[in-house]
Amino acid sequence: MAKKKLYIKSYGCQMNVYDAGRMADVMAPLGFDVVEAPDGADLVILNTCHIREKAAEKVFSDLGRLRPLKEGKAAEGGRMMVAVAGCVAQAEGAELMARAPIVDMVVGPQAYHRLPEMVAKVERQAGRQIDTDFPVEPKFDFLPAPRASGPAVFVSIQEGCDKFCTFCVVPYTRGAEYSRPAQDILVEVKRLASQGAREFTLLGQNVNAYHGQGLDGGDWGLGRLVRAVAEIEGVDRIRYTTSHPRDVDDDLIAAHREVPALTPFIHLPVQSGSDRILQAMNRGHTAAEYLAIIERLRAARDDMVFSSDFIVGFPGETEADYQATMDLIDRVRFIQAFSFKYSPRPGTPAAGMGGQVPEEEKSRRLIALQARLTEIQSAFNGGCLGQEMDVLFDRPGRHPGQLVGRSPWMQPVHVTAPEMALGSMARVRVVKASPNSLAGDVIPGSILPGVDVGDFSRRESA
Ligand code: 5AD
Ligand code: SF4
Repeated sequence: MAKKKLYIKSYGCQMNVYDAGRMADVMAPLGFDVVEAPDGADLVILNTCHIREKAAEKVFSDLGRLRPLKEGKAAEGGRMMVAVAGCVAQAEGAELMARAPIVDMVVGPQAYHRLPEMVAKVERQAGRQIDTDFPVEPKFDFLPAPRASGPAVFVSIQEGCDKFCTFCVVPYTRGAEYSRPAQDILVEVKRLASQGAREFTLLGQNVNAYHGQGLDGGDWGLGRLVRAVAEIEGVDRIRYTTSHPRDVDDDLIAAHREVPALTPFIHLPVQSGSDRILQAMNRGHTAAEYLAIIERLRAARDDMVFSSDFIVGFPGETEADYQATMDLIDRVRFIQAFSFKYSPRPGTPAAGMGGQVPEEEKSRRLIALQARLTEIQSAFNGGCLGQEMDVLFDRPGRHPGQLVGRSPWMQPVHVTAPEMALGSMARVRVVKASPNSLAGDVIPGSILPGVDVGDFSRRESA
């Protein structure tokens, strides 16, 4: 079969990065190989994000840049098909088709297992294709088994969101909450572990809302699933993201106490520290309730730390509300965070609320908030000096003989180590701390038997 070139650009969240990989998997049997640049590609997929206005606008500027490439390919007698996938496709599919004639296909996040069929139709000149259904058949049943691309892998366990925070488009673009059956997840983890994966990030829009069918036929929550994943040979580390404070239950907290592989680092978005704003956001908890959850998780493991998402300038946010967020940051001392200016999204309740905050004020608040978070992150990294920690090496460093890995708290850790240690876990003593990363020495003899990571690339093409 003649090889064809597939270029995928992914915007936005981790779920999109995961989906991009799965789209590549689903197109591989049709002879499509992933390439690093769009020039000359037979199929270009823009896997889009709709969460903030800026993210959504990028699609149209990227489509503009693709036009000459598509025309160039046509002038040579070839054809570049252009597909828009992801959440912009879901939210604005029809408009995209109307506004951008270069788009051949629009495919929503729940329908991309049907991509091969759509591509075949476009190739047969059967017209432009649009599929933004929320099909009754779960797409996972139609996707090929994923392959480990390195020692740290993602496993999608849950999708969609029923929370309807008043600022957010996700419940509209990704649909209702859906949890994969535990059996399917465990089979996937076993397979990835046998290919050398060591760290497993369980992925979901609302990952701790997981309620899948358990091996015993009952309903399993995330805590129960984590325990089953931890029993699989080769699983050294388990993470999960993104969770919601409302769905942190007793069993999940107990799992943090009892399962050593579960990392002591949780991304637990709070968005705001003001009860008034939390209520207007429909978050379903107060600042005090959030702090109580943090305390319970810390009681489960004393090395537990947190990261979060913040929105500044939500409609009606006063200086006092904003200060409440800053206070909460000081109390929890988040070691990492994603923070954003509120961006009104069409169709969401908050977009129509009174008291929209001026852009300059949002910028001022964001800059001060980010400065505070950076200070805390630097202090946390500084506190790691002289400590020993487990590091999983997942990529080569900038210079020969160097490797980079991740600490249990997701800090990048740079070391000097032989290339054969790539894909392995080792004890590292931290000798240098920078605001964004650490450097250390591998404790002699501590490299766990791992996998020859050269293997991963060979396996990819196998
Ligand atoms: N404006 C700004 N930030 C937003 N987020 C979601 N919707 C919006 C919006 N309309 C942020 C939230 C969420 C993260 C993924 O993106 O902080 O947790
Ligand atoms: Fe959006 Fe809220 Fe659902 Fe998160 S919980 S995806 S912020 S609606």
